[in-house]
Amino acid sequence: MAESEYAIECENLVKIYKTDQIEVVALQGLDLQVKKGELVAIVGTSGSGKSTLLNMLGGLDKPSAGSLTVNGRNLLKFTEEDYMIYKRNTVGFVWQNNARNLVPYLTAVQNVELPMLLQGQKERRERALELLDAVGLSNRINSRLDQMSGGEQQRVAIAISLANNPAILLADEPTGSVDTKTSDQLLGVFKDINQKRGVTVVIVTHDLRLAKKIDRVISIRDGRTSSEIIKKSHAEIMSETKGWDTGEEEAAEEFSEELVVLDRTGRLQLPKDYLEALDIKGGSKVKADLDLENERIYIHKAQQ
Ligand SMILES: Nc1ncnc2c1ncn2[C@@H]1O[C@H](COP(=O)(O)OP(=O)(O)O)[C@@H](O)[C@H]1O
Ligand SMILES: [Mg+2]
Repeated sequence: MAESEYAIECENLVKIYKTDQIEVVALQGLDLQVKKGELVAIVGTSGSGKSTLLNMLGGLDKPSAGSLTVNGRNLLKFTEEDYMIYKRNTVGFVWQNNARNLVPYLTAVQNVELPMLLQGQKERRERALELLDAVGLSNRINSRLDQMSGGEQQRVAIAISLANNPAILLADEPTGSVDTKTSDQLLGVFKDINQKRGVTVVIVTHDLRLAKKIDRVISIRDGRTSSEIIKKSHAEIMSETKGWDTGEEEAAEEFSEELVVLDRTGRLQLPKDYLEALDIKGGSKVKADLDLENERIYIHKAQQ
């Protein structure tokens, strides 16, 4: 069988949590594909099923139905032992709350060595130093965790997640507890790991500002729609509307940050400000003209 080009393939993935009398459908038929070596962001409001998806991908919880294939292997067919080996060899995990796998009174290098020790890995010191270097912490190896900043602690957590050389790195709100600057730096670490080590990276975030800095962004709504979010053509729209009274520079700044949601049937939801700037009104019969030009789509106010 030819090796799949996908690291992750979800088809009609369903996850139902059963608690007493209540059933919560956290994922209701989710479709998603991530290629090997990609770095993607998953966005969505609270309760949309992001953590549920990540936990399925990480082998921390089992899907209820559908199919979930990671590196060509169907997780729904896994035995307990398969899951154990999968977690040990295939995936790495980073959480928002790093206290989950860090020991405050140990140094950075000791923290990275610890899980390796528990797994009986050899040449731990050497490996730990290499990993700390990979996350930009060479100068902090002997600092105690509780003397490090939130961002530095998160880097240690990333180093640990790489200890087993995972094919896939999963991060659930990894920048949820740090400031904007630190969160940009952490994204830099993830990008670096993705590029230099070829690790497929999936970052869950509800921070759209951060998501905008990631090439591929997938949004989940109600555990169902996974739509691509595209970020393009603001410059074009701005040059189209140059000289118009649209609030000038400030508006341009705002517009250039806009993300557009494209659903699976190709429907776009355009930002309200754009429509107002072009005086395009929804609801009327003819709303806008479209032009396809040089791989870009231009939207104009319709000529009467
Ligand atoms: N262990 C659980 N038991 C019952 N319901 C759960 C459990 N985990 C999550 N849920 C529910 O599943 C839905 C999706 O949750 P979650 O995946 O945590 O969303 P997100 O990470 O996007 O905020 C929510 O309605 C949540 O309440
Ligand atoms: Mg969550």
